[in-house]
Amino acid sequence: MSLQFWKPGTSAPGSSLDRETDDLSIQPAVPSAVQGLSIQSQRERLPIFKHRDKLLYAIEKHGVIIVVGQTGSGKTTQLPQYLMESGWAANGQVIACTQPRRVAATSVAGRVAAEVGSILGDEVGYTIRFEDVSDKEGTRILYMTDGMLFRETLLDPLLTRYSVIMIDEAHERSVYTDLLLGVLKKIRRKRPSLRLIVSSATLDATSFLEYFTASAGHEEATIVSLEGRMYPVEVAYLKEPAPDYVKKAAEVAWNINLQQGPGDILIFLTGREDIERCLEELSDLLPTLPRTATRLVPLALHAGLSTDEQLRVFDPAERGSRKVIISTNIAEASVTIEGIKFVVDCGFVKIRVYNPTTALASLATVPTSVASATQRAGRAGRTSPGTLPLSTPPEITRTDMTTPILQLKSLGIDDLMKFEWVSAPPAESVLRALEGLAAAGMIGEDGRLTVMGEQVAECPVEVGVARMLFHSKELKCGEEILTIAAMTSVQDVFIIPDGAPGALAELERRKFTAEEGDHITLLNAYNAFVRYGHSSGWCKSHALSFRAMSRAVSIRAQLKKYMQRFNLPLESCEGDAKRLRRCLVSGYWRNGARWVADGTYRSVRGNRTLHVHPTSVLFTRKPRSGWVVFHEMEETKKTQIRIITEVESDWLVDHGQHQYRDKNRED
Ligand code: CDP
Ligand code: MG
Repeated sequence: MSLQFWKPGTSAPGSSLDRETDDLSIQPAVPSAVQGLSIQSQRERLPIFKHRDKLLYAIEKHGVIIVVGQTGSGKTTQLPQYLMESGWAANGQVIACTQPRRVAATSVAGRVAAEVGSILGDEVGYTIRFEDVSDKEGTRILYMTDGMLFRETLLDPLLTRYSVIMIDEAHERSVYTDLLLGVLKKIRRKRPSLRLIVSSATLDATSFLEYFTASAGHEEATIVSLEGRMYPVEVAYLKEPAPDYVKKAAEVAWNINLQQGPGDILIFLTGREDIERCLEELSDLLPTLPRTATRLVPLALHAGLSTDEQLRVFDPAERGSRKVIISTNIAEASVTIEGIKFVVDCGFVKIRVYNPTTALASLATVPTSVASATQRAGRAGRTSPGTLPLSTPPEITRTDMTTPILQLKSLGIDDLMKFEWVSAPPAESVLRALEGLAAAGMIGEDGRLTVMGEQVAECPVEVGVARMLFHSKELKCGEEILTIAAMTSVQDVFIIPDGAPGALAELERRKFTAEEGDHITLLNAYNAFVRYGHSSGWCKSHALSFRAMSRAVSIRAQLKKYMQRFNLPLESCEGDAKRLRRCLVSGYWRNGARWVADGTYRSVRGNRTLHVHPTSVLFTRKPRSGWVVFHEMEETKKTQIRIITEVESDWLVDHGQHQYRDKNRED
C-alpha cells in the first residue's frame, strides 16, 4: 500500500485568515479571548456562520436536514449553539449531538462549554459510557456517543427530552449511527416536532436524503451544503509502496523537517504499538540531526495515554523546534491541533471486523478509505494554509450484531425484516447473533427476549460479560466477577512508567500474576490497588496505570448498581479460582481455544490459528488443560488473543452444548 505524504500547498502562508482559528484547545481551561480575538468574532469567522439563517430556516421547515461541509467548517461546535440561541432549548428541552467516538464527545463539549461560557457539565455537557458530565435539569446542549443515545431509547422510546438531535459524523456509518437513524425515522412518525440533523463531512448526502424521503415525501428532508475548506490542500503520494510503513513514516517526517519550512507534522498510524515503534525510529535518528536544522519534538497521541499526556500535543512548539505528533485515528475527526501543516498518512487504519461464519470479532489493520484519507488531509488546512498532498463500508456490515439485536428486541423491534435499515446487516451475521442469543438464554423459543435478556440489554457491557454477571449468582462469585467485568472494560492497565526499564515493569507485573491467567491477574491488581488506598504513587512503583485503575473503580461502582437492581448477590468465591473460571466460561464460551504443539492456539469456532498477545501471563506457558477462553482478538500481521484464562474442556462443552461436542468429534 502506498504511504501518502502531503506536501506544501501553493497558497501564500500568512494570509489574512491565518490566525482566525489559531486559538485551539480542547479544554475550556484555556480561555479563547486570551489569544486576541473575542470568542464571538472567532465564531463569526467560521465558514458555517454565513449559512446560519439558511440552516435555521431549513430546520423550521423540514423534519430532517442533512448538512454537508468540510471538516473545520464549524458544524459540530456551532450548530447546537445556533439552535440554542434561536430557542430550540427552551422549556427544558435538550439539543443532542452524537459522536461515534468518546474522545470527540468529551473534547468538543469542553470547547463548546468554553464558547458558551458554561462550566462543563452545566449548560453544556457530555455523556459517554461510564461517564456522565451533564445535569439532568440544567444541560441544554448535550454531546454524547451514538451508543449512549441509542441506549437511552430503551428507557425513553420517543426520546421526549430532546427537541433536536444532531447525528454528527454520519459519513462514518458507525453501527449505532445507522441504528439511531432507523429508530429516529420511526420516532419522527410518532413525534413530528422532533428535528433531526444529519451531518456529514463527505458528499454522500444524497443516500441519506433518499433514506428519509423514501416513504415520507420530499418535504421531509433537505440538504444544506456549506462552503469548502478554508485553506487549499495538496496531496502527494509516495511513488513506491513502503514495506515498513512505520519506519517510512518516520523517515518522511524526518525529511519534511530537513526540507520544508516551518509547521508541525501529524503522522497517522494504526495503533499504540506502531506509535511506540515510530517514536523509537525517530529517537534513533535524532542524534544525527544537523546542528543548524530545526529541532524535532516527537509526541504520541492515543487513547491509552492520560489526559495530561494527551494534552501535551496542544502545547505550541518552542521557537526553533517542530512538533511531530504521532497519532491513531483519534486525531482524524474531532480533535484540532494548532500549527499542523504536514500530514503523513500511513494509509492504514485499524477497524473492528466481524466474520459471520466463525462469529469471531477482531481488530484488523486495513487500508484507509478515500473518505477517511480526505478527513485526515483535512487536519492540516485547518489552522493555517495546509501543506498536504479522495468509503469504508458501513460498520453494520462487518460487526458482531449480538448486542445491537438484543437492544433492538428490547425496543420492541422483534421483526428485524421490517426494521428500516440504512444498510441491512448481512443475513448470516443476523442469524449468528440470534443463534448466539438463543444459546445464551437471552431469547426464548418464541424469539422474544427472556427476563435475563431484557436486563442484559440494559447493561452497559457486552453480552458475554453481562452473562457472567448473571451466572455469578449460581457460582457464588459476584464480588470477583464484578471486578473482572470492570477491569476488562478499561485499557492498558499495565504500563511501563517513564524512565523505568521494561524488564523492571515486567517484574512488578509478576507480583500480581496468577497462573490461571490474565483475568485473575487483573483481579489481583485491582484488589491490591484498593488495599493500598487507591494511591497513584503505589501504581507508579508497581507499573500500573493510575488512570486505568481509577476508571475501573468507577466502572465497578456503576456496574454494581445494575447487579443490585437485578438482585444479583455480591458473594465472594473466597479464593476458589475454579469456581471463578467456570463463571468466566459462562461469558466467554464462544471464545474458546485449544493449545497446539507449536505454542499457538486454534479457535474452537472456525479453527483459526491464534497467537497469544505478549502482554498475557500465558504468553510463554502452556496451559495444563490445553484449553483457554479469551476476552478479545486482534488482527495485526497475525491474529492475537488477549486477556486469556485456562479452563477445562468439558466446561466449554457444557456451555456450548452441541456446537462443541460436534467440533470435538471432528477433531
Ligand atoms: O464539525 P466541523 O468539522 O465542521 O467543525 P468544528 O469541529 O465545529 O470546528 C470548528 C472550529 O472550532 C475549528 O476550526 C477549530 O478552530 C475549533 N475547535 C477547537 O478549537 N477545538 C475543538 N475541540 C473543536 C473545534
Ligand atoms: Mg465535526
